[in-house]
Amino acid sequence: MSTPHLAITADLHWGLAKCEAGNLSLVKGLQQNPPQLLLVGGDLGADSHFGDCLNALATIDCPVALVAGNHDIWVRQEDLRGNSWTVYDSLLPAECEKRGFHYLDHGPLLLPHLGLGIVGSMNWYDHSWATEELARRFPQEQWRLEQMCFTRGRHNDRVYVRWPEGMSNSSITSLMAAKLAEHLRVALSNCERVILITHHPALPELGFARPDRETTETEGPSMDQIL
Ligand SMILES: [Fe+2]
Repeated sequence: MSTPHLAITADLHWGLAKCEAGNLSLVKGLQQNPPQLLLVGGDLGADSHFGDCLNALATIDCPVALVAGNHDIWVRQEDLRGNSWTVYDSLLPAECEKRGFHYLDHGPLLLPHLGLGIVGSMNWYDHSWATEELARRFPQEQWRLEQMCFTRGRHNDRVYVRWPEGMSNSSITSLMAAKLAEHLRVALSNCERVILITHHPALPELGFARPDRETTETEGPSMDQIL
């Protein structure tokens, strides 16, 4: 079987001035040399920029599959679109469906002609990777973890991600992990090869805080780095 020609990208952050030149050049390059599949790993654009990003990707002559990212589900207080779960579970997939794009959070993409299955999830976080170490090292600062407060500001997910009553970061993470496991099972039983894509890292080794100059090996990363 020949090697499929895939293009994989993420974090386009459509609508941010600093990303514009790179994004336009990426779209232009893909228009000139379309892949057999374009995979996007989340953070296409906040609010209406998500749709703007999809419109730009629709100018590329290839199928598109994507997962959502945290920026894609940011909502303002009293947002007319509803809460972050409504955006994630209803509005973003509807935007994808309008353009014939595959929303991986809702189901695997099976490509028998390529011998390939694609599964994916925005994935979320429940702070379970570092709790014990943090509690030991920063006993007075648990509130910073809860509120996601850096020394100079607060993580925007704590401000703009609004889950409905009864849902929490932990319950969302469990739900997404279970759904992804089911999609993976289907893909593995139907396809020779499977690619799995997530927005938030699925394993700590893929993207957890690295020590730098501010810390020593024995101290480990600082609170800001961990956040
Ligand atoms: Fe992100």
